[in-house]
Amino acid sequence: MSNPSDTPAPQPAAPAARSHGRKSISATLRPRVLMGEAPRLARVWTARIITLFPEAFPGVLGESLTGKALKEEAWALETIDLRPYGIGKHKNVDDTPAGGGAGMVIRADVLGPAIDEALARAKGRTRLIYLSPRGRRFDQAMARDWAAGGGVTLICGRFEGIDERVIEEYRIEEVSLGDFVLTGGEIAAQAMLDATVRLLPGVLGNAESIEDESHSAGLLEHPQYTRPAEWKGRAIPPVLMSGHHGKIAQWRLATAEDITRQRRPDMWADYQNRED
Ligand SMILES: C[S@@+](CC[C@H](N)C(=O)[O-])C[C@H]1O[C@@H](n2cnc3c(N)ncnc32)[C@H](O)[C@@H]1O
Repeated sequence: MSNPSDTPAPQPAAPAARSHGRKSISATLRPRVLMGEAPRLARVWTARIITLFPEAFPGVLGESLTGKALKEEAWALETIDLRPYGIGKHKNVDDTPAGGGAGMVIRADVLGPAIDEALARAKGRTRLIYLSPRGRRFDQAMARDWAAGGGVTLICGRFEGIDERVIEEYRIEEVSLGDFVLTGGEIAAQAMLDATVRLLPGVLGNAESIEDESHSAGLLEHPQYTRPAEWKGRAIPPVLMSGHHGKIAQWRLATAEDITRQRRPDMWADYQNRED
């Protein structure tokens, strides 16, 4: 491949990096410095995002319960902007695919140094993930697994993706949001982080709601209702208005089982074979 800017990547003097949600901290400071200044943050579950679009974060994660928890430092979010690692005057991050074909591929000598920076900051408390439609499909078990660790470093691809040698060199896990192709990894990152962060201690107000919800106990959730008691001629199932907790629990379990059996035979089979 010929590229006029095909020279060794210069080390960026101060790659743009942002930490989100820390109340009194300037976004222009580098997170490593911030961690040094506030040691208690160093142990906080941290998501690091390598992206060409750092301004897309925290995005929807800055709202509601995840946003409140971010401000309260129940978790931390740092973005690592890939652009300053780019090559030449124009900070190119991509090049044409070896062997020809459409699109562009993110260069190994650009992404590598950004990963090194993320790993140096994480001090071993992270797992390295490339968001990719080729990856293992993300699910609730993976969210639990991620939440149980010290944090994650998510690489958001763009264009045709990233040079395969980076995946091999850093032994990166590939994880997919689903069997479809997005334009970039940023939306997938936010979806997976939302599912993970809500499992961290102190993020959800009512911990019980996690135990009952879809995919937690191997079942889809029972139907939910609220006021008014009647709407467009449709009444709330009388058992839910009875105040009888035992019967309500029975009804919820039975409807959760029905819905799972009808909609997800795969989950239903696993549920029936579970060992209690
Ligand atoms: C247009 S896609 C590249 C698709 C790639 N050429 C392929 O066919 O597998 C650009 C980037 O979006 C992200 N992406 C696309 N679909 C995704 C999915 N289902 N799950 C997670 N990330 C996805 C990845 O980071 C990917 O590198």
